[in-house]
Amino acid sequence: MSLIQETDFGTPKSKSEAMVTLTIDGNQITVPEGTSIMRAPMEAGTQIPKLCATDMVDAFGSCRLCLVEIAGRPGTPASCTTPVAAGMVVSTQTERLKQVRKGVMELYISDHPLDCLTCAANGDCELQDVAGEVGLRDVRYGYQGLNHLVSAKDESNPYFTYDPSKCIVCSRCVRACDEVQGTFALSMEGRGFATQVRAGQAGNDHRQKHERAGERECHAEEQQDRQIVGQVNQWVSRMCEQVCVGFRTMHFEGQGSRE
Ligand code: SF4
Ligand code: FES
Repeated sequence: MSLIQETDFGTPKSKSEAMVTLTIDGNQITVPEGTSIMRAPMEAGTQIPKLCATDMVDAFGSCRLCLVEIAGRPGTPASCTTPVAAGMVVSTQTERLKQVRKGVMELYISDHPLDCLTCAANGDCELQDVAGEVGLRDVRYGYQGLNHLVSAKDESNPYFTYDPSKCIVCSRCVRACDEVQGTFALSMEGRGFATQVRAGQAGNDHRQKHERAGERECHAEEQQDRQIVGQVNQWVSRMCEQVCVGFRTMHFEGQGSRE
């Protein structure tokens, strides 16, 4: 469990010097142009539920948890991918939004193992947190239909294990590898229900990522990498694992602190 809980604003900070004033949930808020609707109220301490967004990488808009209502606009756009505009009037906590978010969360949980009590992420899991946040108590759909619950773990990569039964295909890990480390070590494979995270073009890309992060060079022989990565690249491994929505879908070899 993380000892220091840093605020995740959901989307990166805008670098614009131009300011925009809008109304969110009845409060006037002034933020830099280009700020997402998700980030704007968070600057004032109000959080919109989210799963796929993190301020480490650009918004992707896949989980549909962060929907909001904007006066004069149809539908319920995702707050992470919608930038603020001057004079905009936004509602983030209406009854309709609460129902939609609860319904979306119910679908996620209907295809997720109910092993919280024995899961390594218990108590430090965004999925668990958001389920509580939106008030989800029961899943009405049962567990008989098509699901990923019996999908086998992928342990073929020397650096990490991937558990598809816990993955919500939010792409945060893939985007972090692309945008933060710039190594494209992971990618999404397949379509729709069959989509899974896979090691990028070469499984060794992950080793390069660790090396490029500059913690220390890894000169290990291939067959020793699991062990060596665990010893010398702990901070980067930890960072990568934390990018995952929190239930250790991606389990990297070697955990440790930045120090
Ligand atoms: S492994 Fe984790 S971060 Fe990556 S897509 Fe799945 S849930 Fe998201
Ligand atoms: S947090 Fe906005 S769509 Fe996932």
